[in-house]
Amino acid sequence: MSPQSKDSPLAPEWLSVPADLNTLEPKMWAQDAARNDSGELTVGGIPVSELQQQYGTPLFVMSEDDFRARARAFSDAFNNAFADICGGVDVYYAGKSFLCTAVVRWVEEEGLRLDTASGGELAVAAKAGIPGADVALHGNNKSDLEIHRALDMKLGRIVVDSLGELVRVGDIAERRGEQAKVMLRLTPGVHAHTHEFIATAHEDQKFGLSMAADTTEQAGLSAAEEAVAAASAHPGIELLGLHCHIGSQIFEPDGFALAAQKLLRFLAAMQEKYSIVLPELDLGGGYGIAYTSVDTPRPAAEIAEAMAAVVRSTCAELGIDSPRISIEPGRAIVGSTTFTLYEVGTLKTVRVDAPAEAGASDGGNNVTYPRRYVSVDGGMSDNARPVLYDADYSAILASRTSTAGPQLSRVVGKHCESGDIVVRDVYLPEDVAAGDLLAVPGTGAYCWALSSNYNYLARPGVVAVRDGSARLIVRGETEEDLLNRDMGV
Ligand code: LLP
Repeated sequence: MSPQSKDSPLAPEWLSVPADLNTLEPKMWAQDAARNDSGELTVGGIPVSELQQQYGTPLFVMSEDDFRARARAFSDAFNNAFADICGGVDVYYAGKSFLCTAVVRWVEEEGLRLDTASGGELAVAAKAGIPGADVALHGNNKSDLEIHRALDMKLGRIVVDSLGELVRVGDIAERRGEQAKVMLRLTPGVHAHTHEFIATAHEDQKFGLSMAADTTEQAGLSAAEEAVAAASAHPGIELLGLHCHIGSQIFEPDGFALAAQKLLRFLAAMQEKYSIVLPELDLGGGYGIAYTSVDTPRPAAEIAEAMAAVVRSTCAELGIDSPRISIEPGRAIVGSTTFTLYEVGTLKTVRVDAPAEAGASDGGNNVTYPRRYVSVDGGMSDNARPVLYDADYSAILASRTSTAGPQLSRVVGKHCESGDIVVRDVYLPEDVAAGDLLAVPGTGAYCWALSSNYNYLARPGVVAVRDGSARLIVRGETEEDLLNRDMGV
């Protein structure tokens, strides 16, 4: 007899069989995602089959109402927590997570600002018409062109990443007879618990000015201090303050709080030593979201309170007024607003030996266990995160409910690559069949943004749902789009 597929020993330890495979776990979904009376997944009341008919699959389905609600919730939570400390917080939505002109307008209408990381992102901001004063520019290797563009747009802040760049920004602004508004990005040496490639405040990485002593040619000075001294002396620079970003997809507030404390101590020391005032402190983004049932993101208010408590006590201890605080959340605003809708194609079941650590005893009979591969019509070209960061996702059968039993499944794409995995491990109903629709939640951040044309797949469109109606905010690519940069010579 073949072993039961329920509770498969092939499943990772964190994955348990859901009590009901049809349930949407609220923490992973937009607030207006639900099943209708016929069991179909809907967003804002619109069934996914309708979206498929109109726009095709794969498709990014984003709830605009949910985006706006999350943007407001973040901004309200931080403004409340910091009201008595510095009058509130400026929230810069990190456009790298997902950016198009519609989103820039939502951000602006909800009272947030915009964080960009390249000339291209600045072009989107400009096209959307957001005032430059509400825009920040990041990047560890900004081109002169990008610096000029930032100055043309009269950006509210350019976040300078290195000593060399500081001089370049200052000189360009001075030649233009202007002053660039500058924040200095520092690496506070806080090691956040996240994937190595998305942790950014430790020493051994490309971003930011080190706060460790003796990191420049001037004996005893850190690169961060040398930058403060150089920036305050440069006629082309108005030094607004300091910035840090410790990493991404972080749940625990203590890393943010520790970074805030380190930067405040440094800020106070610099104000004293150089007789300057640094009126702004940006604590970056990085707040985590739920991709699977075991992820435990904190409510924005809890993070905000934890950070506010540390800023309040540190400023009191240092005897300084708190600078104006800003933050840069991306994923926490857009991530859970969106799911990717795919159509199921090829199905295949393989039989696999139980991993030794699963402890399955087969009495020497070499028992194998089934894993079902469910192929969908997209893949690593619309979600590179599983490949890049071993990111886990979950998935549900979206076009209908099912009473069939759970089957350990691996959702894979259609690329010519065996690592082309969308959801590594998930229990799906045994009767999932070709033509069914699957939905993968939590794909609002860094999925469309990281998408590619690998194997000449067209990048999917993005549909936004608001007040029960859907519209394309980014159209999907056509075959013509795929060919139109090919010079044919
Ligand atoms: N501020 C700065 C300076 C950043 O570098 C980032 C993200 C953010 C804010 C926004 O972080 P968030 O709140 O979205 O975590 N592609 C990776 C994440 C890269 C994050 C890059 N910087 C991923 O898919 O996990």
